[in-house]
Amino acid sequence: MQPAEDLRTRPEIRPNTNALEFDPTLATLLESAPVTRVTLPYGHDGPWLVSRYADIQAVTNDKRLSRAPLGKEVEIPRLMPAFVPPPDAVQLQDAPKASHLQEAMGMGITSRRMAKFRPVAEAIVGELLDRIAGEPGPVDLLEALTGRYPLDVMARLIGIPESDLADIRAWTRLMFSIRPEETEQTLAAKKALGEYSAGLVHARKDQPGNDLLSRIVADPDGKFSVGAMVGMTVQLIAVGIAPSNSLLSNICYQLLTDDRLAGIRADPGTIVEGFDELARFTPVIHGFGPPVVATTDLELGGVTIKRGEVLVYSYTSGNRDENAFPNPEEIDLHRKDAKHLTFGAGVHACVAQHFTKLVVTTAVQALLTRFPDVRLAVSPDEVDWDNGTIWRGPAGLPVLLHG
Ligand code: HEM
Repeated sequence: MQPAEDLRTRPEIRPNTNALEFDPTLATLLESAPVTRVTLPYGHDGPWLVSRYADIQAVTNDKRLSRAPLGKEVEIPRLMPAFVPPPDAVQLQDAPKASHLQEAMGMGITSRRMAKFRPVAEAIVGELLDRIAGEPGPVDLLEALTGRYPLDVMARLIGIPESDLADIRAWTRLMFSIRPEETEQTLAAKKALGEYSAGLVHARKDQPGNDLLSRIVADPDGKFSVGAMVGMTVQLIAVGIAPSNSLLSNICYQLLTDDRLAGIRADPGTIVEGFDELARFTPVIHGFGPPVVATTDLELGGVTIKRGEVLVYSYTSGNRDENAFPNPEEIDLHRKDAKHLTFGAGVHACVAQHFTKLVVTTAVQALLTRFPDVRLAVSPDEVDWDNGTIWRGPAGLPVLLHG
């Protein structure tokens, strides 16, 4: 039987974490109320939150659940006061439209292409490390490497000049702000990114090159509007780069603070095999991605979801479900359990897993090989965390490079 709903006790989803701990609200719900109504600060009130691995797999593969009503009949429940994806964004489409957009973005960053591109990425990270190598005192690793390298690599794939990257970084940070006092700046940043991306699309239309964006813009089957191409560009240079920065920064923080990762520090090449387990274990986002809407009544985890009701799902929670990952709080670099959910599942799964693996592994490998004695310049609990955006990560990562 469905429990009667008590609005006063609906759990509230807010950034509520210390460093990289598994959000305690999510941990409680995973354990005791795996399909339950929650409240988020903005948008649709009272979506169902789905926490368990198997239920998330079911939801992300169920054609009775749709994103088409989002931004139209249904407001997206969210932590961000201002940011909502534009109507033609891939996140708001169902298959097959979503799949066409994903295919176009993914074709330039396949596993094969990323393997070929590895030496270029290694050269980029080498240059970044050259710039700080002589520093005897503390260096902010976030500024010097983890918060910039993913965009540096993407910029090389797309052909964006280095002089534009500082603006893109500033817009990207603001775009995902959860601070109400930054609402105006969020909207301005979103507009600026859109205009900048439109400029890139038109430039590649006028003068195609041999880069990732030129291949998307070529659109031989005429599938995409200019708006869709601009959306893909924003996705590539900003929406996807933000979590890449977060994942890389958070993995570096753990390498610097968690003895369980001493093996990777001693043998940096093992980051390649260890990547998936670190990706599973490392939280990247506060809250959730876009929800889905039930197009018919359905059952999930013993609960009846009514037509028109909204479901959010937490990949972070699914990654800590002991039914999928025995001893989920352990980091087991040789784990052979279920496929983790850090890059999503089903129709909307991430197209950039190979890109992300490339940037994380090349950065970690280069940092630890070049500076084997690198350590935090402060104690782990003195690291400040940036709680102003949906992405989890440090506000700065002060390190000493030399022993
Ligand atoms: C440049 C880097 C990236 C790009 C271009 C990118 C692009 C995309 C795209 C196009 C989708 C499909 C969206 C949809 O159909 O709704 C997606 C989904 C997703 N991506 Fe990425 N991504 C990037 C990096 C990352 C990183 C680093 C993470 C996490 C660590 C991540 C996590 C996800 C997740 C969880 C989804 C599924 C969201 C959902 O359920 O709708 N992505 N990504």
